[in-house]
Amino acid sequence: MINQKDLKIRILKPGENIPYSLLLLADETREGINAYIHDSTIFVVEHQDEMIAVCATVMKDEEGMEIINIAVREDYQNNGIGYWLLLEIIKKAREQGLSELIIGTADCAEKQLYLYQKAGFRFSRVIKDFYIRKYPMPIFENGIQLKDMVILSITL
Ligand code: ACO
Ligand code: ACO
Repeated sequence: MINQKDLKIRILKPGENIPYSLLLLADETREGINAYIHDSTIFVVEHQDEMIAVCATVMKDEEGMEIINIAVREDYQNNGIGYWLLLEIIKKAREQGLSELIIGTADCAEKQLYLYQKAGFRFSRVIKDFYIRKYPMPIFENGIQLKDMVILSITL
């Protein structure tokens, strides 16, 4: 069991290596990540000096922010860290005075859809065929082809 008191969250400093191995858990390709990562704020979570989770956010407009990538190292998953990290990001967005936080995931990503709703996000809209257009090859999760992106939002 992970003690949440041992988790530290901080913003990645300029010049530090971008944690691609973590980011690639939530995005299929490095090119895909490069399309947004340089405009993102990158939060990293450390446990006993090891980097075990990441969350990249981008501003959508003056009052709205998107969690564009969130990932927990595989050997640390299902220990409540993703949930803890979502609540930390929501708290920081509130402290920043933002009004809305959004997050998108695949239509068939049942764990993510469950977790985001548990953290307070609600279904907002669907971007049809997002994953069909984004990737040259069909991608499958839980035996279902990824097709649409579901956007969830939380009013802060
Ligand atoms: N279906 C439904 N719920 C599930 C499933 C499942 N197949 N598997 C696990 N769960 C539940 C767990 O029981 C737990 O809920 P509970 O605590 O109420 O029992 C919850 O899902 C998982 O919660 P955490 O342990 O807090 O989550 P974790 O630390 O594993 O982080 C995350 C979640 C970030 C999705 C992690 O699994 C991960 O890195 N996955 C790979 C990358 C990814 O898919 N990232 C999100 C892509 S979308 C985006 O980046 C915007
Ligand atoms: N999360 C994700 N998948 C699950 C879960 C879960 N918690 N529990 C079971 N499953 C999977 C099973 O593994 C199975 O998938 P698989 O065959 O790929 O392994 C699938 O869900 C269930 O498939 P079936 O066995 O064909 O479904 P079933 O005969 O149980 O019928 C139904 C489903 C109609 C929803 C039934 O469970 C039911 O009557 N539930 C109560 C009433 C209800 O909720 N009805 C729908 C309300 S909406 C409406 O009526 C329009």
